[in-house]
Amino acid sequence: MAGATTSAALGRALRRYVDAPLVARLFVHGRAFLSDFAVIERYVPRKGFVVDLGCGYGLFACVLRETSPTRRVLGIDRDPRRIAVARGAIKDTQWLRFETGDIVTEAPPRCDAVTIVDVLYLLPLEQQERVLRSAAGALGEGAPLIVKAQEARRDPRYALTYAQELVTTGLGLTRRGRERFFFPSREEALAMFERAGFLVDVVEMPRRPYTDVLYLARRAPAKA
Ligand SMILES: C[S@@+](CC[C@H](N)C(=O)[O-])C[C@H]1O[C@@H](n2cnc3c(N)ncnc32)[C@H](O)[C@@H]1O
Repeated sequence: MAGATTSAALGRALRRYVDAPLVARLFVHGRAFLSDFAVIERYVPRKGFVVDLGCGYGLFACVLRETSPTRRVLGIDRDPRRIAVARGAIKDTQWLRFETGDIVTEAPPRCDAVTIVDVLYLLPLEQQERVLRSAAGALGEGAPLIVKAQEARRDPRYALTYAQELVTTGLGLTRRGRERFFFPSREEALAMFERAGFLVDVVEMPRRPYTDVLYLARRAPAKA
């Protein structure tokens, strides 16, 4: 039943983009098809203030709202064109907002949960760690950070992960300013989360042809 509820919510979230430019509409439909937002959404608290870092066109933020009316969501992205499309998708602005911002240099506001979906690989590892540290600064002890990312591994699925990103950036669907991607190994990622102040579990994304994982992190107690 939860699955049916989430796919109905995904349908409602997509309908918010009927007036968006064609490229943005195609992109959000592609994300809906490829990204398993329903799986990620299940790990996000149903109540409280959630900040989605690197929200893109805002589809996941809309899904978070559509699946639970007691979530307030803020999406942040550095691309003003994406934020303009995201803003066009909302009327419930007291519950859902989008802001332009750089998640590496600007800290998110205090919140109950942070989500980061398919963003970190665009940033060098030291910048990924800065993002995790500023997420930690926004969260209270025990509060969750949910990150969907891809791992570097000796696995044919890693080659597919990399190839898919080359195609989407080649088509201009994912913007980046550098010549490569930054997929950490699991060991590197776990060490980064721990240094940033999180306790973390890893969940493999089911039925995925890529090396997709969810890092389910919780803000660790401050050291005495
Ligand atoms: C592959 S898209 C994913 C978008 C969205 N999270 C989703 O799942 O549909 C990556 C996004 O990260 C954003 N991004 C990359 N670096 C960023 C930074 N330093 N600050 C804010 N956003 C950033 C890009 O603009 C892009 O919208």
